[in-house]
Amino acid sequence: TKHIGILTAGGDSPGLNAAIRGVGKAAQGHYGMQMIGFLDGFRGLVDNRFRRMDGDILSGILTRGGTILGTGRDKPHRMLFGGKTQDMTDVIVENYHANHLDCLVCIGGGGTQKNALRLMEKGLNIITLPKTIDNDVARTDVTFGFDTALGIATEAIDRLHSTAHSHHRIIVVEIMGHRAGWLALGSGIAGGADVILLPEIPYNLDVVSEAIRQRQRGGKNFSIVAVSEGALPEDKASLVQEAEQRKLNAANKKEKKEAKETLARLAQDYANNTVLLSSQLEELTGLESRVTILGHLQRGGTPSAADRLLATRLGTACADLIAREQYGVMVSSQGDAAVPVPLEQVAGNKKLVPPDHPWVQSALHVGTCLGISK
Ligand code: F6P
Repeated sequence: TKHIGILTAGGDSPGLNAAIRGVGKAAQGHYGMQMIGFLDGFRGLVDNRFRRMDGDILSGILTRGGTILGTGRDKPHRMLFGGKTQDMTDVIVENYHANHLDCLVCIGGGGTQKNALRLMEKGLNIITLPKTIDNDVARTDVTFGFDTALGIATEAIDRLHSTAHSHHRIIVVEIMGHRAGWLALGSGIAGGADVILLPEIPYNLDVVSEAIRQRQRGGKNFSIVAVSEGALPEDKASLVQEAEQRKLNAANKKEKKEAKETLARLAQDYANNTVLLSSQLEELTGLESRVTILGHLQRGGTPSAADRLLATRLGTACADLIAREQYGVMVSSQGDAAVPVPLEQVAGNKKLVPPDHPWVQSALHVGTCLGISK
């Protein structure tokens, strides 16, 4: 009998329970394996806190948001433990063996893929599944959680339209996505936002305000501006890019540390960019403007049908791979197929929106302003 461990790590996202259920039912029901679930991400693996995933535990969870296992943003190699930051990977390796595991399944986004690779390099058999509302994991068409968040953000944009229209206002709506613009772009297109601003395409404030003024001249005294949380104007974006370059090219630890500090300072300085943008647009257009930050609403609640299906497909495919002892991979979605991709090809490779992506072209062709300099 094979023994497997499973955990969910990083920010939660709709579809996690569907994935746990998919892996668990296929592994235990179909293949006769035994599964334990570690609690609260990698921390549970360090503390050896787990529950057996047998009996009724997997029943009734398909439709539930969040994760029945709990999650956390802890990194195995840099974890706050006993009052200080420590490398806990050896403890994880010990607990893996103490529980006689044949494989550890890690469900998470970009950070989790990197952490999972580190554990793989320590000799553990690892399989990962790609989840995040940001859709920024490399080598998969899509991640689960994205479709649900897309629906929530689109509905929000729909609802903001009627109030913006009634008050002749601009509404600047901030959409999650970390450093990737998939969620803002997708929901902005689906919700018919007038302006969509992405981290991957630094914006020109004059171009944005001119687009809004042009709508005013055409008799439309309201505008919806969908702004990704990582979007920045051209000048600020280039300061961030410079610092990132300095970090990459750093000749020694000191230079790297300095670049990292600059990046942290810039992130802090630009944290309220959405609010600033709203007041800038108010001044430049003469229209009143309001800010709506969708925040964690986008991660909560029941998963969409598409996310339940995706999570179940990838979860059952994960059990198939364990049965075949094909480890060291992420189960990706490519068309209708669930395809194993070597973890090394995934970890550390963020999937950003390419500026020539078909969605970008579509947005431009329906007349959406992306703030691109003329
Ligand atoms: O990665 C998912 C995500 O929701 C990002 O879109 C966002 O930047 C981040 O997590 C927020 O993290 P937290 O919930 O830890 O504040």
